[in-house]
Amino acid sequence: MGGKRELTPEQLLQNNRQWAAGKLAGNPGYFDQLAHVQKPDYLWIGCSDSRVPASKIIGLRPGEVFVHRNIANVVPHTDLNALSVIQYAVEVLKVTHILVVGHYHCGGVSAALKGTDYGEIDNWLVHIKDVWRDNYDTIMALPEDKRADRLVELNVAAQVHNVARTSMVQTAWAEGRELTIHGWVYDLHDGLLRDLGVAISGCADLHAAYRIRELCEKARKAGGS
Ligand code: CO
Repeated sequence: MGGKRELTPEQLLQNNRQWAAGKLAGNPGYFDQLAHVQKPDYLWIGCSDSRVPASKIIGLRPGEVFVHRNIANVVPHTDLNALSVIQYAVEVLKVTHILVVGHYHCGGVSAALKGTDYGEIDNWLVHIKDVWRDNYDTIMALPEDKRADRLVELNVAAQVHNVARTSMVQTAWAEGRELTIHGWVYDLHDGLLRDLGVAISGCADLHAAYRIRELCEKARKAGGS
């Protein structure tokens, strides 16, 4: 249990052949069926951390969740990668739920709090430091060993709002489509996800400054909020 396995790339390819054979043994049409379908209802935006395998911990099969991961699950509005994933998921795949999933003991969040010189990644971590600054008193009032986990939660909430502030999400609402952005946190110690209760499902949940007026007006007429 828990020991580090030493695996060569050749062994990974061997694992892959065994896995594919196992799937075919259970269902000879497995890959033919999957190859034709990518209709996920979910977009997962999570941390790159190797201990948080997206589809596994929510019990979804290939084809059921579209995944974007980066260090500390951040959604900057100038990140072409994140924006492209959201655009494709919302406009083409027409997902109905976006899950922003952080995790406790996140190395990226801890690094932001430590303020150590990590090199280029420090620039990425500024996004986390922004969340720290916005909640500085709340976080600094906590005992030192509780601060990182609280910042993990507040970062998830902040990124839920960042997703909702995009033109793609507000366009979906303007078209009268159901689209909810959820904020969850994964606990490495018990394998459980916790809903932070910070979900956003319409313009009414957005600060007025971030509403795209014409889109939110259309959404209101379409019967949303
Ligand atoms: Co992490």
